[in-house]
Formats: sequence, structure tokens, C-alpha cells
Amino acid sequence: MTTTVGTATPLLEVRGCTMEFPGVRALDNVSFTLMPGECHALVGENGAGKSTLSKCITGENRMTAGELYADGKPVKLSGYSIRESQHMKIAIVHQEFQLMNDMTGLENIFVGHYDTRGGFINWKKLEVRARKLLEFLQCDIELNVPVKSLRTAERQIVQLTKALLDEPKVLILDELTAVLQEKDILNIFRIIGILKSRGIGVIYISHRLDEVFSCCDSYTVLCDGRFVSSGRVADITKQQLIRMIIGRELSGAYPPINENLGETILEVKNLTAPKAFRDVSLSVRAGEVVGLAGLLGAGKTELVNAIFGHHRVVSGKILVRGREVNIHNPRRAIKLGMGIVPDERRMLGLNMLFDIKDNTTLPSMRKFRVGRVFQNLRAEARAAYEVNERLNLKYYSLWQNVKKLSGGNQQKIVVAKWMLRECDIFLLDEPTRGIDIGAKFEIYTLVNELARAGKAVILVSPEMEELIGLCNRIYILFEGKVMDEVEGERKTQEVIINSLLGVSAHE
Ligand SMILES: Nc1ncnc2c1ncn2[C@@H]1O[C@H](COP(=O)(O)OP(=O)(O)OP(=O)(O)O)[C@@H](O)[C@H]1O
Ligand SMILES: [Mg+2]
Repeated sequence: MTTTVGTATPLLEVRGCTMEFPGVRALDNVSFTLMPGECHALVGENGAGKSTLSKCITGENRMTAGELYADGKPVKLSGYSIRESQHMKIAIVHQEFQLMNDMTGLENIFVGHYDTRGGFINWKKLEVRARKLLEFLQCDIELNVPVKSLRTAERQIVQLTKALLDEPKVLILDELTAVLQEKDILNIFRIIGILKSRGIGVIYISHRLDEVFSCCDSYTVLCDGRFVSSGRVADITKQQLIRMIIGRELSGAYPPINENLGETILEVKNLTAPKAFRDVSLSVRAGEVVGLAGLLGAGKTELVNAIFGHHRVVSGKILVRGREVNIHNPRRAIKLGMGIVPDERRMLGLNMLFDIKDNTTLPSMRKFRVGRVFQNLRAEARAAYEVNERLNLKYYSLWQNVKKLSGGNQQKIVVAKWMLRECDIFLLDEPTRGIDIGAKFEIYTLVNELARAGKAVILVSPEMEELIGLCNRIYILFEGKVMDEVEGERKTQEVIINSLLGVSAHE
């Protein structure tokens, strides 16, 4: 028997779930209940076990112990698999992209669900179906190009479309909004509202707690694989939730912005890349943190990648310390003293076959060289240990494969590896994506320390508060053009939002 609340039977109930990976107990006796028509937030620090619990529900992970009930009936776990959970109409949008990059959006959406006629796939019919779903989502996405050419946020919408294909009864959104911007997030809330009114239960995983208060009815907090508490969102404050998640108060104060600026280190003049940005000019001085703000498609990621030699430009100049440089590829950029935290950690940020230590020290190998051929492995391991400890990485060994870390912990390594290398110019594209609220402030302190050490930092962030709190100056991009540049008194949410939307501040 399952517990019934009022007259309703839970859509889903997990009882006493324990899940062990070799050597790691990711979940320890966790219970969780999802009611129909409810949006239930699943929160906790990086590595708390949120994704693992989701995968236990979808059958991707097999629980070591515990029970699962769907619609009040026990589910036989011995043969439980993804196929079974799909049959029970449980859908998930994974934290890490699970798309086939060379296939089109349409192919990705329908993989495994092809509608065939006489042995042939009826693409027309499939496209009509996908378009209908996109219309419901109010998103316009090119479906007939390989998904690798889509923006990160657009790829996320492809994943959501795929999850909604079979009209799920339970929808798990694992950090869906981590790659989305304010406007798209509001759209997601609208969609969740509609799903809820249809009696669908949503499990909502996010580190952005404001979202929990805007769109969730109830919450469950996990910590180190254990259940901490559960209840109704209306009964708690954000402060209380933070305390439940990190076990302490959060000061929430940004470190004071460094005002001690030196010479101009990086200068970009009239840089243009077709379909991404045009005629962009900006400069960063030593000790300065310069922000890039803009909506989806404004060209921020492309601009950062272009500076790093990873996106083709057709005209314009890049100057490092006043000297014009030609950056054809990332290797050249690294030679010139640049480091990048890219917006896609799995493809560009980490080598998924390497362990934590190698990933962390890869760009700084030379620092640990003794003589011409020897490597001081001990010093290397020590440095990797120190920087990862600082970011509160949850791991059991430095020689552990990064693939097995939680999403947020992988992101911490991408940040750590560039922190270790002595770069002069840091290009940080959403460095705190998917990072829990406690560790976020550690990254803010690191960024501040970089500035104090005289480094030049470019920071891209979808969170306005983060930009205002950390940057000396903020450039606002709108449809590939610099719309405005704010500093001092003009560095306010209002001015930035107006420019983000393309409303000129000088009108
Ligand atoms: N395939 C795996 N093999 C071994 N350990 C794993 C594996 N997947 C996850 N873990 C471990 O299980 C724990 C919980 O990870 P999980 O991914 O569920 O965290 P999470 O709460 O989703 O964190 P985040 O907010 O960073 O996404 C972590 O300690 C992680 O290292
Ligand atoms: Mg996760």
C-alpha cells in the first residue's frame, strides 16, 4: 500500500531507495513522493544524488535497495528498465545532453519512435508532429540541421520536445533551465503550468532557488545521498531552504570589485563573424572583470569562442597588450596566455576518458616539469588536490574518472583547470552553470582574486545579479551588436534589461 494524501494517489513514490556505485553510496534510504498536478523541486548540493535518484526512477540506474510505486501499485524492480519506465509514461530531460550531434533535431526527437509506412519512415508526418509540439512550447527551432549547429539552449529545447513526445505522466527536468535565459525560463514555467493543469507531475531539479519559489509546489532536499526534509514551498523562505541545502547560512555577499586597474591587456576591434556578431569592439584592462550580457542568440558565446580562435571571423582585429595577433586556433590562444571555461563542459571542457588529476593539470603540465623530461607528479597531484578542495569538489580519489562525477562537480574541474594555469586573460562562459549555491560564491571569490592578481577577465553570465556583483564594466549585446556599455551608476538591472531587449538607453 502507498500513502494517500487526501483522496489522491501519488503518481510516484520511492521508498527507502539506496543506490550504490562501486565504492560510492550515492543514495542512502531516500524516500520521495510525487502527486498528480504537482511540480516538486528536488534540491541539494552538487553530488547530493539528485540525478542518481532521477535515473533510479527512469530505470537507468538499478536501486540497490528500495521500492517504487506508480499510481499506488508496486513496480517490479528486478526487470525495471528505461523501456519499462517509458511505457509507464515517465519522461526525463537529462542534465547532460543526450543528443546525437550529427543527426538533425527531427531525427533526434524521434529516435526510437519512428512512425513507418510500408517500411519507410514517414518524415512528413513526423515533422508535422514535432512542429505541433514546438508550437505548444512557443519555440521556433530549425529541425532539419544537425543539432551540433544549434545553440546550447536550442538543443535543450530539442531534448524537452523529445521528452514531451509521448505525453508523459511524470516529467523529470534535470537542470533544464541551467542553459536557458530568463525569458525562456518564464516560458518553461508557463509550460509547466499547463502540464500541471493536465494532472502531470513534474520533478524539477535546479540550483537556482528563485525558480523553485516561482514554479514549484513542494520540495525535497537531499544532502550527501540522504533525505534531509520535504514539505510545501509556501511554508518556507529562501533562507530556510538554503540552510537545509548547505547546512549553514549563506552570507551572499560579493567580494568588493577590484578598482586597481592596469594597462589594457585585451582589445577587440570591429570583430565580425557572419550570423553571430558584427562590428564588436571591446577592451579589458589588467585587474578588470568585464561582463557580457545578452539574450539567447545575442552572440556572446560565439564572441568568446572567436577570441579564443574557435569561431571563424571575417573581419576585425584582436590585440593583446597592444600588439595585433592572429588567433587561428585555440592552441595559439593558449600560447598567448588565454584560458577558457567553455559553455559546453562535456565536449569542450573536459576529456571524459581522463581522471580528475589529469583533467585539472592538463593545461599546466609545463609548470610541473623538472629538467627537460621529468614530471613532478607529486607536485602536480598536490596542486590538483588543493584547487579542487577549494571548490569543494565531491570525489573520492583524484584518480577517479571524471565521467562518474555529478554534473556540477564536472563543471568545477573545468573551472579548476584554468585557475591552475597561469593565464593572463580568462574567458569565462557561464562558469557557475549547474554549480550549487555554496560553491558559487567560492567561484566568485576566485574570479575576484584573479582580478586582484592583475588578470583580465571576460565573464559571460545569464544571471544579472552575478554580472552586477562581479564586473567593473558590462557590455550588452543585442542581436550580435554591442548595444550598450555600462559601468558605475548605470550598472543597474533596469538599464541592462532595457538594452538586453534592444531598447536603446539613449533614446
Ligand atoms: N556512474 C557513476 N559511477 C560512480 N559514481 C557515480 C556515478 N554517477 C554518479 N556517481 C556519484 O554519485 C553521487 C551523486 O551524484 P549525482 O549525479 O546524483 O549528483 P547530483 O545531485 O545530480 O549533483 P549535481 O548538482 O552536481 O548535478 C556523486 O558522488 C557521484 O560522484
Ligand atoms: Mg545532477
